[in-house]
Amino acid sequence: MAEAVKSVASAVADMVISNVVYIDEDTGVDAPETLGTKDLPFKSLLGALIHSSVKDARYESRKSKTGTPEETREEYKPVAKAALKKATNAHSAHIKKEAKKGELAAKEAEQKAARDAQLEAAKSVIIVEDASKPAAKKIKIRDTTAHRNTRVAISGWAHRVRHQKNMIFITLRDGTGLLQCILADKLTESYDAMTLTNETTLTLYGELKELPAGAHAPGGHELIVDYYKIIGKAPGGEEAITNIVAPDADPQTKYNYRHLTLRGDTASATLKVRAAVVKAFRRSFDDLGLLEVTPPCMVQTQCEGGATLFEFDYYGEKAYLTQSSQLYLETCLPSLGDVFCIQESFRAEKSLTRRHLSEYTHIEGELAFVTFDDLLNHLEDLVCRTIDTVWNDPPTRAFIQELNDDANKDEKKRFEKGEVTELKHYEFKPPSRPFRRMRYSEAIEWLNEHGIPNEDDEPHKFGDDIAEAAERRMTDMLNEPIFLTHFPVEIKAFYMKKDPQDPRVTESVDCLMPGVGEIVGGSMRMEDLEELLDAYRRVGIPADPYYWFTDQRKYGTTPHGGYGIGLERFLAWMCGRWTVKECSLYPRWMGRCTP
Ligand code: 4AD
Repeated sequence: MAEAVKSVASAVADMVISNVVYIDEDTGVDAPETLGTKDLPFKSLLGALIHSSVKDARYESRKSKTGTPEETREEYKPVAKAALKKATNAHSAHIKKEAKKGELAAKEAEQKAARDAQLEAAKSVIIVEDASKPAAKKIKIRDTTAHRNTRVAISGWAHRVRHQKNMIFITLRDGTGLLQCILADKLTESYDAMTLTNETTLTLYGELKELPAGAHAPGGHELIVDYYKIIGKAPGGEEAITNIVAPDADPQTKYNYRHLTLRGDTASATLKVRAAVVKAFRRSFDDLGLLEVTPPCMVQTQCEGGATLFEFDYYGEKAYLTQSSQLYLETCLPSLGDVFCIQESFRAEKSLTRRHLSEYTHIEGELAFVTFDDLLNHLEDLVCRTIDTVWNDPPTRAFIQELNDDANKDEKKRFEKGEVTELKHYEFKPPSRPFRRMRYSEAIEWLNEHGIPNEDDEPHKFGDDIAEAAERRMTDMLNEPIFLTHFPVEIKAFYMKKDPQDPRVTESVDCLMPGVGEIVGGSMRMEDLEELLDAYRRVGIPADPYYWFTDQRKYGTTPHGGYGIGLERFLAWMCGRWTVKECSLYPRWMGRCTP
């Protein structure tokens, strides 16, 4: 230690005598403690000018020669005049910049102190309700139009907050709508008002006033607030909701924070359309004379193939989460007539696609004494009636239009990033009737005529399962709903009835919609007992657990058929959503079962 102190002291003495400041581009360090001696040189001339305190210094440097051994490196040479001039100019600019930085920091500190003082003073501002005002009526935002010019109390979440001189604009959200609320003067001076953040819950009291001509806000009115109560504060800064689920956050983050994402305009609009669609389906079913039933979700039979079964232990027995309620609906026909259900279905899908979920809402119907043609006509009627109901409801139509407009903005971003090669235009229009009807064999020809290959990159042949990509291409190119019918026996479920005219194919239908592809799967069911028993054998299903299903053919059989509609796919089509995940409240897919 003493040695080191001595050597530093002698180095300083050397430098003071020689007046030379050394710069070594390899070993030097630009720092305040650097001495500028040969032992402790600076790294750059600018660094030396900034940190060295030697009077009337002369500068000597040696160039960088990384990797060269010390003994072979060239000696220090005086710095050229031009280089010194350049560095001196840079030094002056540096001094100015530092001075400016200092001024800015001082200003910021001053502003912060002023704001702190203001906030401290704000703590003593107490907002009290004016007892002379009429009592406020507690209402929801959906009821605001009927309460214009009256004093109301509305509770909700601060969806957006904008501070302006002497005014705070709050867009309040209560799940039933949005409302612009204005706080002015004294009301803006309390600590709570000054620190108000998005998602804080509060009750706002005041009078609802119609907007002057030319002004815009949800509902065409605003709440002129005269009193408020904060109920629960939400964090600002790093933890602010806008930082956690920013509009451009990556999808995984958005699904991790689905509980917060749901508060956003897009997710809530999609879920509102979802509720309207479910309600409209129930109405259509009612109008068409189908009765609602609630089949079990825990079952011991399969419906759509063993590969996608979710198995679980049921008190020591093997059981599954239902893939479809179809088999149970069939058993209801003799006692309840035509039936439907809106129930969760589960598929252990191993593929991560835009249209597959592990749990989805399945809208299924089953009809007795029908022909295949009756079934197709009924399905078309059901879909079109439901769409008409939804489309003729102005708020729901507005949501669908906004979501499709949004989809076009997202599509533009994907196109700019090169994620899609064609710029698709999203716009929902109720489909015209009748739907195009196309047999599977015609689709195979169509795909080949249009050069769309199968999964092995070969021309499609009879018997191929038309893959998602090819199906999507075809549907998008035809750009209208398609009833694709008569699929080969081998690629369809065991229970499907064969076409009496062509036993190679089944009386089956997939309804394809532009943008999504298949949204409905349906068929006529085998009604003959022996044929069904053969079918079990063909696919290797033990008949015993299906005795209750088989019995339908034993105790008075009937020609019958039905279908299943994937609600999330139906919504993705209507709302122009990129994936069905956006159409589920808390979507589940391979790798995600939370939150
Ligand atoms: O074509 P699928 O498998 O048909 C059935 O389950 C029949 N038993 C229904 C019936 O006839 N009652 O499924 C019907 C529909 C599909 O067209 C699709 O819309 C949806 O259910 N679907 C899915 N949606 C999201 N994620 C999945 N993994 C889906 N699998 C099917």
